[in-house]
Amino acid sequence: MAGPILVFDSGVGGLSVVAALRERLPRAALAYACDNAMLPYGRREDAWLVRRILAVCEAAVRTSGCVALVVACNTASTLALDALRERLRVPVVGTVPAIKPAAALSRSGHIGLLATSATVARPYTLRLIEAFAAHCTVRRVAADSLVREAERQLAGEPPDVAVIEAALAPLWKDPALDTVVLGCTHFPLLRDALATAAPREVAWVDSSDAIARRTAQVVAGVATSTGPGASLATAPDAVLARALARFGFARPQPLSLD
Ligand code: DGL
Repeated sequence: MAGPILVFDSGVGGLSVVAALRERLPRAALAYACDNAMLPYGRREDAWLVRRILAVCEAAVRTSGCVALVVACNTASTLALDALRERLRVPVVGTVPAIKPAAALSRSGHIGLLATSATVARPYTLRLIEAFAAHCTVRRVAADSLVREAERQLAGEPPDVAVIEAALAPLWKDPALDTVVLGCTHFPLLRDALATAAPREVAWVDSSDAIARRTAQVVAGVATSTGPGASLATAPDAVLARALARFGFARPQPLSLD
């Protein structure tokens, strides 16, 4: 099978999924695409976002010649997965909040969902909770400010502790809460800072290993990587280039949408 696996996110969040993909598929060629011109996605209007995600993913799939698309973004997946699968010819692997494993892991049955405003309110998310965590108390917390903190961290700046503490604060109102779902791919990039800011120990659960497992099933024999993976961005710049280079990607090329 020729062509890379293309990982897509609004910004650098998908790099947390890249790390899991590299572990599970160390020889697979990966490419990366992000719509950083329109970051963050988490507060955008649904109808606009579906059109935008379709346009960006279509252009990125065509330009990269990928064999599969990994939508490494909960905000995009919980809204546009069906539309993407209808429109694209390559298989599409999505990312949705890890409610099921979190509900299985929690001892107290009190879990938190930390995600963008869009993801915490989506019908898709509510259905996941109903299907897999109906026996749990689920505290949904919109934490859009953490997207910017993760972007800052990958740009080489220290995350702002006060912003992180404020974003997490609603979780601690439930004294029995013992497990937190990181329902935005940006958030695992901040895992150390989140754990440091937490007033007590909790389990942090994300979807990246499950996505990597699913991707490995979907792409049975992908082309072997022969160098840095290609990357595409709607607003390429030097800061993004440095973040992508740390994850083994070449300088981002402009992604043009027609
Ligand atoms: N990384 C994306 C997610 O998983 C969202 C970030 C954004 O708001 O653009 O939801």
